[in-house]
Amino acid sequence: MKKENISIVILAAGKGSRMKSLKAKVLHNISGKPMLYHIIRESHKISDDITVVVAHQKDAVIQEIGKHFNDITFVVQDTQNFPGTGGAMMQVEAKYDKILVLNGDMPLITADALKGFLELKADIIMSIFDLKNPNGYGRVIIRNNHVEYIVEQKDADDAELNVTTVNAGVYAFSKVILEQYIPDLSNDNAQQEYYLTDIIAMANEEESSIVPLLVDEKQFKGVNSKKDLADAEEIMQNRIRTKWMNAGVSMQLPSTIYIEEDVVFEGECEVQNGCRITGKSRIINSQIKAGSVVEESFIKNSNCGPMAHLRPLSHIEDTHIGNFVEVKKSTLKGVKAGHLSYLGDAEINEGTNIGAGTITCNYDGINKYKTVIGKNVFIGSDSQLIAPITIKNDVMIAAGTTVTSGEIAGGNLVISRTKTRFIKDFYYNFFKKSK
Ligand code: UD1
Ligand code: CA
Repeated sequence: MKKENISIVILAAGKGSRMKSLKAKVLHNISGKPMLYHIIRESHKISDDITVVVAHQKDAVIQEIGKHFNDITFVVQDTQNFPGTGGAMMQVEAKYDKILVLNGDMPLITADALKGFLELKADIIMSIFDLKNPNGYGRVIIRNNHVEYIVEQKDADDAELNVTTVNAGVYAFSKVILEQYIPDLSNDNAQQEYYLTDIIAMANEEESSIVPLLVDEKQFKGVNSKKDLADAEEIMQNRIRTKWMNAGVSMQLPSTIYIEEDVVFEGECEVQNGCRITGKSRIINSQIKAGSVVEESFIKNSNCGPMAHLRPLSHIEDTHIGNFVEVKKSTLKGVKAGHLSYLGDAEINEGTNIGAGTITCNYDGINKYKTVIGKNVFIGSDSQLIAPITIKNDVMIAAGTTVTSGEIAGGNLVISRTKTRFIKDFYYNFFKKSK
């Protein structure tokens, strides 16, 4: 999409009290990114003039968004004296003559869904949808195909509450309209707030052109509570999974799979039910089996799980990771680690077999240390490798061995075991049983 001569203002100053959270509403995550991030990403596709209005927890919001974007104008709303969505617009200075206003709590919005606001021409274009349950939204009063006014739920009378056409919360205003009516807004309403929505009635009285645009809740849903957040997540996840299935990724029971937005699949991949894949994970020609968690990891020509946990910065290539294996910040190439292991801060090379119950003891209570394991090493079950340690190529570690720090030369067998003792007939004597 090409950028248009349109300014975008995103309202993100509200308290979001219905979230019942200490965190600013717009910083709640959807598919691993704050709601506000998703809106800015899409806004960027159509505009080079984006203003975000902040107030509540403004430092946290500015800092978080600053991690992702560096060309956003932040405006601080005076919420003490001018609370409400109308108050939010008072300090805004837009570059272009057309201004698209978005709410910061609409994480499902797409640039594509905003097309209508770019194409139509009117003093005000406003988004509406029809809901079976309009609870929480402002009701739009339309008579003779003509938008007359918007009434907020808290100010509505019984007849107005029964209206199911609601304000989706996105508008395109001509700059003139905003300059004319914003200064005249009042806070004479149930919430004692300056409502941006009051502009509609004011403009209607002076016969400005107001065009309603029917939009889809799947893109325009507002998130006001944790339940809304979960519902929006479901819609976003559905989009992400559909995109990857269309790109050739096989998924079993996709509705049970969670994939964050920066995850990338290449080649022929399969993700089984109940997996969680996060961060900038990159998965190439690999199979992620049921119940596995992959965080910010690289996986190529490998299979992982069921129930494997790949923690951040794991690099897995040509490798088999089996059940209950936890890997953290480790590089495994051409390795088999079939069962029940912790491999942290390690580098493990081709042909090496990690026996069940192997643990890299990477932490001494103060610092973390590296484990380096060469090629064709056989590590017996239930071994502990105390880092820092280097095991050269062609080494055998006997089952049950604790290998202390240092360097193990190639060709060695390492074994540390107490000698096995046999006490004849102890069992029968102890349990007083006859043979
Ligand atoms: C608003 C609309 C309502 C519409 C709904 C759609 C108004 C008065 N009401 O209601 O008609 O159906 O959105 O989702 O506009 N904000 C500020 N400063 C403030 C208050 C809010 O920037 O002082 C921001 C919030 O951070 C939020 C957005 O504006 O991102 C909307 O605020 P919210 O309180 O969620 O409005 P709704 O009650 O949902
Ligand atoms: Ca809202």
